[in-house]
Amino acid sequence: MTESVLVVPGDGIGREVVPAAVEVLEAVVDLEFHEADAGDRVKRETGEALPAETYRRASEADATLFGAAGETAADVVLPLREAVGSFANVRPARAYPGVDALRPETDLVFVRENTEGVYAGIESEVADGVTTLTRVVTDEASRRIAEFGFDYAADNGYDDVTVAHKANVMRTTDGRFLDGVAAVAEERGADYEPALMDSLATDLVMRPGEHGVVICPNLAGDVLSDLAAGLVGGLGLLPSANVGAEGGLFEPVHGSAPDIAGEGVANPAATVLSAAMLLEHLGEASAAARVRTAVEGVLADGPRTPDLGGDASTAAVTEAILARL
Ligand code: NAI
Ligand code: MG
Repeated sequence: MTESVLVVPGDGIGREVVPAAVEVLEAVVDLEFHEADAGDRVKRETGEALPAETYRRASEADATLFGAAGETAADVVLPLREAVGSFANVRPARAYPGVDALRPETDLVFVRENTEGVYAGIESEVADGVTTLTRVVTDEASRRIAEFGFDYAADNGYDDVTVAHKANVMRTTDGRFLDGVAAVAEERGADYEPALMDSLATDLVMRPGEHGVVICPNLAGDVLSDLAAGLVGGLGLLPSANVGAEGGLFEPVHGSAPDIAGEGVANPAATVLSAAMLLEHLGEASAAARVRTAVEGVLADGPRTPDLGGDASTAAVTEAILARL
């Protein structure tokens, strides 16, 4: 049976890079595409950033390809990640040959806990001028992300597993997170390095080659993966997969980039590489590899979009990727 992919371009450059990625998918496999709305634009029109219909269709699709939302991002992305039942956000940050990267030796994969931490959405104004946030950390989610992270490292040939935390300060919550990771590591005889997330930030910049898979609580994974984007040539290169259960949500790490939206110069690589992760999720490993090889070829030989120092358009880069397929 042909698998169904829900396509949600969203706002800004999402509307430019998602169609590019769909063209690439259409060139390599037979999938059934359906499109749905989300983001700032649909909120202005209907009052709702994530229509119930989009949520329902994402929860039923075999996979969802999402672009980006603008100011409504949190109202769209967090529920969409929940709709597909994901608990792990996988964010590879690799330096590609030919791209002018700050740290060409970088080959990191952030495995970010995707359901709790400070993104659990429990915030309140407790008195005039005083606000609080509740950080949720459970045994179940900590063990689950550790299991996923160790499996990912083993399946993908990464020897180094680093676990980001701040248990010296957040003793109860990150203490529990670390206990969960330690229990899973012991059960499997897996090795890992716990690292305080602030000094880890320095280490990732100075010695990225000493790290491989980085298992992170939610916020740390968000911040450290954007930091890693800076090591490899920018946000235009970072794909991501929200996985865990059967469905999956695949999206570039970047946002709607209002500063370049509408100019036709957004780098489609992050979204096309997210589409490759989608193919892998659907069991299309060889198609995924073909897409990645085509993207790597274009990154090496050009044409390149302005974020990578070139002057090519999104359309020209997409054409070049398609030509290599
Ligand atoms: P951003 O990722 O949209 O842009 C940051 C910088 O990177 C900008 O200079 C932009 O031009 C550049 N950039 C990003 N993607 C690029 C690409 N594919 N090609 C070339 N250059 C690229 O982050 P920013 O500026 O912090 O946020 C803009 C809007 O996006 C905000 O409204 C924010 O809420 C939203 N956002 C949405 C996300 C989502 O939907 N998942 C994630 C992050 C931000
Ligand atoms: Mg982010």
